[in-house]
Amino acid sequence: MSGGAAEGGAGGARAYEAVFGAAPAVRESAPGRVNLLGEHTDYNDGFVMPTAIPQRTTVALGPSPDGRHHLYAADLDERATLSAGGAADEPAPPGFARYLLGCIRLFEREGFAVPPLCVHVSSRVPMGAGLSSSAALEVAALRALRSLTGAALSDERIAELGQRAEIEFAGVNCGIMDQMASSLADARHLLFLDTRTLARRLLPLPAGAEILVIDSGVARTLASSGYNERRAECEEAARRLGARALRDVPDPAAAAALPEPLSRRARHVITENRRVLEAAEGLSAGAFGERMNASHASLRDDYEVSVPALDALVALLQATPGVFGARLTGAGFGGACVALVASGQAAAIGESVCREYDTAGQRGRVLVPERGA
Ligand code: GLA
Repeated sequence: MSGGAAEGGAGGARAYEAVFGAAPAVRESAPGRVNLLGEHTDYNDGFVMPTAIPQRTTVALGPSPDGRHHLYAADLDERATLSAGGAADEPAPPGFARYLLGCIRLFEREGFAVPPLCVHVSSRVPMGAGLSSSAALEVAALRALRSLTGAALSDERIAELGQRAEIEFAGVNCGIMDQMASSLADARHLLFLDTRTLARRLLPLPAGAEILVIDSGVARTLASSGYNERRAECEEAARRLGARALRDVPDPAAAAALPEPLSRRARHVITENRRVLEAAEGLSAGAFGERMNASHASLRDDYEVSVPALDALVALLQATPGVFGARLTGAGFGGACVALVASGQAAAIGESVCREYDTAGQRGRVLVPERGA
């Protein structure tokens, strides 16, 4: 059996029962995430501070009628077929199926047998917005496999397997933040995570503040976005500084010894780690917001992962009364911005900022808080 062709289909999103003709055996879900502080620090063994968003991805599983895995992504109305127990070097199929193939293969690599399955995916996590729709899919799929088989896998291990699926099967040399957030964060707290040790604490949001997330309308693709290139630059910077990772370089002045662009890349990571550690001490909303603004400037100027539309949206947010701070969130190169705003004002601020925002025909869209929630 080959790695499975994705077939589009007519008919729109359909429920598990309608696609596979019976009820699923298990159904599990996992949220997307938005990162408040600590961008491009996780693959440098550094510190991050994401939270879960209300939107979730759901994966339902049931037995397959034949020896193959049958996959259906309801939102895309796409199907794929995979061999069950296939060769470890089975080529990755296109689209959503590659993430599921990765989860199934890694689950098997942990020593758990996976029977031939029907797999149904539905998601309300926006795709391509930097809110970790792929991590939500991986964690939901791994949770469903755990429920189905009774495998003894911790939430932390699920996050690690999800990350491996992303690296090995989607080709993105990502850190652990997204999968840890999807597996261990909730939407009421900030997850302060040391990505080297996986030590973590759930922290309250700064008093008097809530989260606003606006999609810039500029789509991004991680793999083609220079993400892997940034990571390689950081590793080279650490090597030249004689450090195991940039997390071990506490003083931004040390970066000055490096050639460009390594010097600016390292400065971003070192100052960003410092901002997260300061925020973890418990800051006022105003002081937290200042760190977010500084983070955006650093991502724009030193790390060079912003784009004009994100800068425009962030500037609009930062100029709006009631906004404590704003920045791009996720890998950058497009996607969403996150802002910390006065409690009770996120929906109204989001709407007014979106009205003002119109860059090169792009349209902003408020993703958090969810409309009508
Ligand atoms: C993506 C990756 C994460 C992290 C962020 C940037 O979301 O998957 O591991 O590196 O980019 O902070």
